Amino acid sequence: MSTQSFNPDSYKNGQEQEWDAAAAGWRKQWAVFETSAQSVNDRLVDLAEIKPEDRVLDVVTGIGEPAVTAAKFVGAGGRVVATDQSTGMLAIAKERVAEFGLNNVEFQATDAEALDFPEGSFDAVVCRWGLMFLPDVGAALSEIRKSLFPRGKFVTSVWGLPPVVPMASIPMGILQRELQLSPPPPGAPTLFTLGAPGAIESAFKDAGFVDVHVESMSMVLQFATGEEYTEFMRDIAAPINAMVNGQPQDRQTELWGMIADAARELSNSGGSISMPNETILVAGRRE
Ligand SMILES: C[S@@+](CC[C@H](N)C(=O)[O-])C[C@H]1O[C@@H](n2cnc3c(N)ncnc32)[C@H](O)[C@@H]1O
Repeated sequence: MSTQSFNPDSYKNGQEQEWDAAAAGWRKQWAVFETSAQSVNDRLVDLAEIKPEDRVLDVVTGIGEPAVTAAKFVGAGGRVVATDQSTGMLAIAKERVAEFGLNNVEFQATDAEALDFPEGSFDAVVCRWGLMFLPDVGAALSEIRKSLFPRGKFVTSVWGLPPVVPMASIPMGILQRELQLSPPPPGAPTLFTLGAPGAIESAFKDAGFVDVHVESMSMVLQFATGEEYTEFMRDIAAPINAMVNGQPQDRQTELWGMIADAARELSNSGGSISMPNETILVAGRRE
């Protein structure tokens, strides 16, 4: 049992620092990540019923998804506002927007629990793999709902529960065992908090969304070797790096070696690794 108590403000400050530190790694790996994630981006935009000229909000955009995908859909007559609390991650999102030649995206460095857009600002709101980082999901959902036009849709994706997300559950299982980590204190968000059966659906309904729809899909990551997978995770996985980084250098090397070995167990006969990660997509409408 964990004896620590959870402080949302210090957790959020820690998140900001961890993701700022991970930004360079996301710049390096964004093509790998987004090649695998594009089908999820497309489905989020599809479920949100985003059309040309729409006004769209992307909450917790990270390096700019699904904001970039939505911006291509809404076209020059539409507008996308992309928010995140990490200025480091937003800097990469800005680079990606420029790389795609888009000029219909604006950015705001904002805590997702402190959104304050005027009532009915957006036709649709999207959020990919972001809500589970928030201590108060209900506060964010209620502001998101308010920011929508009547009949506007909010669509999000969250990760499923271990073992269906090996990308994260392989290292987390090994680190929990090897470092004898205490469970997080009650109330602390984890990558899997919203993956429990019915959790995100209930949160939508509690926030007043109607026509709530849930489905799942797979994001398949491909790696040539176990080491290529661990390099990817060292670059992008801020919460996992935070667990390893406090260890002596030799121990860090040993832990990443164990993680590479475990990933290799998923190799096919040619030796490459295909890693399907299950994500839950939820859509709801403002009445
Ligand atoms: C791995 S990214 C995921 C988000 C992105 N949409 C994606 O799918 O790649 C995690 C992001 O959550 C952001 N984040 C964590 N807590 C946040 C908060 N309270 N408000 C806004 N952004 C937050 C981090 O800054 C980081 O950019």
